[in-house]
Amino acid sequence: MKVKVDGEEKEVKTVWFEQPDVVMIDQPKLPFEFALKRFSNYKATADAITTMVVRGAPAIGATAGYATAQAVLQGEDMQTAADYIKKARPTAIDLAHGVDRILNVLGDDAEANKKIAVEEAEKLAQEYIEKCSKIGDNGNELIKDGDKILTHCNAGWLACVEWGTATAPIYKAKRAGKTVFVWVDETRPRCQGARLTAWEMAQEGVEHAVIADNSAGYYMKKGEVNLCITGADRVARNGDTANKIGTYEKAVVAKANNIPFYIAIPANTYDFDCENGDAIPIEERDEGEVTHMWGEGGKIRIANPNSKARNPAFDVTPAEYITGYITEKGVLKAEELSQLTQ
Ligand code: MRU
Repeated sequence: MKVKVDGEEKEVKTVWFEQPDVVMIDQPKLPFEFALKRFSNYKATADAITTMVVRGAPAIGATAGYATAQAVLQGEDMQTAADYIKKARPTAIDLAHGVDRILNVLGDDAEANKKIAVEEAEKLAQEYIEKCSKIGDNGNELIKDGDKILTHCNAGWLACVEWGTATAPIYKAKRAGKTVFVWVDETRPRCQGARLTAWEMAQEGVEHAVIADNSAGYYMKKGEVNLCITGADRVARNGDTANKIGTYEKAVVAKANNIPFYIAIPANTYDFDCENGDAIPIEERDEGEVTHMWGEGGKIRIANPNSKARNPAFDVTPAEYITGYITEKGVLKAEELSQLTQ
């Protein structure tokens, strides 16, 4: 996508491979600084997933593919490397799918494997771009001129390689000449909405407003939200969906107000092996993300000094609250998700 950096327009992806380095946009620095970071070996790349230099399920999947290719190039023991990379974060299934995509094409010839692994990792990243673009085309058909759309967290191009999942329909609608307005949930504790989605919307020239997480229900009840679209970190076989903490509440309130609630995903985020939402592992992150906030002026404590905090990074929205799944294969119902193939 195009970004304006110091007044100059640049074409950039979220993550890419410049052998032997994986290069990515340093997301914790956004929106105050646009910087790139390079990681020269698979451990460093996997650690960048853990520390959320790169985040968002498809971007994690593509990065996992590149990290696995780095391990092949380095001549590492692949079982050890795969285990290390897969442990980087627990919830987004794209991570394991990304590692397995590379492992599945390797043969017995270590030298030949280098080329095979790099080509497969590039193919995976390219597929994400194409799938997200199709998600955009399919989701665009749900958007009417003048719609006010609510999204949670960042399921934009920063969370993918390009286009985004939840944001792709918005960008396609805008480019098709429709007027759209986006309610951007702030998304505490890490504020991916206020920091990243708002930055993307500004870059794309989409009219938007950041709202505190607690405000979504207020605007839904007032009739100021026509449609909700979020991404997902893992969709179970029955359609139950893990996404950023707070998504469940938004889906319940949307249903109470008869507002359609869609999840946008590529097949890579669908987990055939997971029967329902109870089987999805939920990441618990550092309590400091809740007790503190950080932004342009640095990091400050906002919670009572001696209080403990809890910080689940995701929640599960049961399928009954989800109107449909915007995928590269079309807009599917929960019972149609098995059409998705990796
Ligand atoms: O903790 P994060 O920032 O990785 O969480 C990201 C989300 O929850 C996104 O909505 C999800 O990964 C979909 S990204 C297209």
